Parts: sequence; structure tokens; C-alpha cells
Amino acid sequence: MDQRPRRLRKTPVVRELIAETRLSRNMFIYPYFVTHGKKYVQPIKAMPGINHFSIDELIKDVDHGLKHGVNKIVLFGVGEEKTKDAASAFSKNSIVAKAVTELKKEFKDDLYVITDVCVCAYTTHGHCGIIHNNYVHNDKSVEVLAKMALSHAQAGADMVAPSDMMDGRVGAMRSLLDDKGFENTAILSYAVKFASAYYGPFREAADSSPQTGDRKRYQMDFRNGNEALKEALLDEQQGADILMVKPALAYLDVIRNLKQSTLLPIACYNVSGEYSMVKAASKQGLIDEQKIVMENMCAFARAGADIIITYHAKDILQKQWL
Ligand code: PBG
Ligand code: ZN
Repeated sequence: MDQRPRRLRKTPVVRELIAETRLSRNMFIYPYFVTHGKKYVQPIKAMPGINHFSIDELIKDVDHGLKHGVNKIVLFGVGEEKTKDAASAFSKNSIVAKAVTELKKEFKDDLYVITDVCVCAYTTHGHCGIIHNNYVHNDKSVEVLAKMALSHAQAGADMVAPSDMMDGRVGAMRSLLDDKGFENTAILSYAVKFASAYYGPFREAADSSPQTGDRKRYQMDFRNGNEALKEALLDEQQGADILMVKPALAYLDVIRNLKQSTLLPIACYNVSGEYSMVKAASKQGLIDEQKIVMENMCAFARAGADIIITYHAKDILQKQWL
């Protein structure tokens, strides 16, 4: 006998009724690049539609976005003085600390502010940690990263997001934050971050390319899915509130496996290279941007992502693609 469920006719209403994956306007986080100056808005060539903003212009742009539901952002600092010890990364006057202070003053809890915690945009050598004897020294780096997280929390950040990939940084950050009275500052860990060519456009945007060598010593080998899970679960033990997989599109299996290995919320980072490829192809008329973007977002959610960081978030929310 034919057992096909004929009664569920695929009318538009039934399609919606039985859809297995449902995207929500609440799941998106939008990245911003903030820099010095006044009335400064500079398009980033490698990332069409994304700008460097001075703080005054950032506030205007956030204000506009908020009206359309862009209420969760992650901040990257650009153009700070670069030194060997990354001092500008954890200064209480850093560009990120100032931006957070101003944003929270203006928007209070209407805006959820996350800060990226990594020193590669603040070091002369462009690595994500402190170099000692020609080597990225794990524990010296962790110390600086924890101080950086604390400086962001002191400025009012709701959540800090370590993207450096040193070992033990989540635990070190958690205990420093707790010691200093910031028990309520959350940690979004870039728990699984692969050494990826998809970060290319971002490194232009953040001026954070390593001057020599690459990041393979601390970022993960994209051939290794089990190692990725192991690393992520260590971050969970150390007190991460959310675990993130990055990049996203080429790593849907990792998102799925991580989702099934933890009860924490899972985020994915739809990174610069993924964004710029879609933008470039749509500009040439090769693809339908809206349809491709929403198909990608759906794939992240179907794989198991609860939260999506994406440069497309503004389009999705403002143009009502969802
Ligand atoms: C810095 C950092 C990077 C990204 C986020 N934080 C770049 C890198 O590790 O090289 C990538 C974001 C993107 O490509 O959109 N540690
Ligand atoms: Zn870095």
C-alpha cells in the first residue's frame, strides 16, 4: 500500500505549518567597526555596504538600525596605536571602551553591546597574542586578553567575545570579571575558530593581518571536526555562556555536531569572506542576493545555530527579508 501522507497537501499554508526551520528576527547580531575621529564614515572596499564609523556616526547608525530591530551588535576597534604589548587594547580610553560608554549612555538596555576581545588589531606584529621569544606566548596573551575583557566590561559591555583562540582564556576572563564585580557580564566564546581564508576581507577592515607567519598555531585546522568539539567543550567548562563556530557556511557539520554535544546556545559567525562573495556575485547579477542570503541563514539554523552573527543582519531586518 502506498503510505505517502497525501493529506498534507503542500499549499502555502501547509508549507508554513510544517516548516522544520523557523528563523526569527531575534537571532541576529550585527558587527560594527569603530574608529577615531568625528563625522567619519569610510566604506570598507573589501566589504561592500560595511563602513568604518567614528563614534558620533556610529551612534547615528545604531539609532537608525534600532528602529528596525537591529538591537544586538558586536564591536571591533580599528586604528588604535599598535605596540608589542597591545597596551591600547586594554586601556580604559580605548576606542572600544569609549564607544561602549557612549552607546550605553545613549541607548541603555535597548541596545545589547558585545565586544570582540583580541589583540591582533593592537599589536605591531598583528598576531592574536603577545609574542615572546618569537612565539605567541599563550599565558602572557591570556593575561592581556582578560584585562581587555575587563576594560570592556567596566565601560558597560553586556557581553565579551574572545576571538583570539589562546588556551584557558575563557576561564581567566570569567574569574577576573567575577573578582572585579562583573558577574553579570556574559562570555560569548569563539569556541571553534578555524584558520580560514574566509577572514580575508575582515583583515583589511580591521587592519589586523599578521605581519609574518599565519594563525595556524592557535586557530584550528579545518580538517579536524572532533578536535573542534573538544575545544568547544573546554570553553563550556571554563564558563562560556554561548559557544560559537566560525566561519559558518563551510562548517555546518561542526555547528550540528556541537549543537548535539552541549546544552548551551550555539552561535555561528557568517564571516567577511562569506559576506563579500555573496555581495560580489549579486553585484554582477549572478545570483539573487535576498534569496541566497535567506537560504544561507536557514542553513545555519537548520544545522543548529540559535544565534547568527552576520553583516547581512541590517538588510535582513531593515528590508524585512524575514
Ligand atoms: C580577530 C578576528 C577575526 C575575525 C573576527 N575577529 C579575524 C582573524 O582571526 O583573522 C573574523 C571576522 C570576519 O572575517 O568577518 N581575531
Ligand atoms: Zn585576533
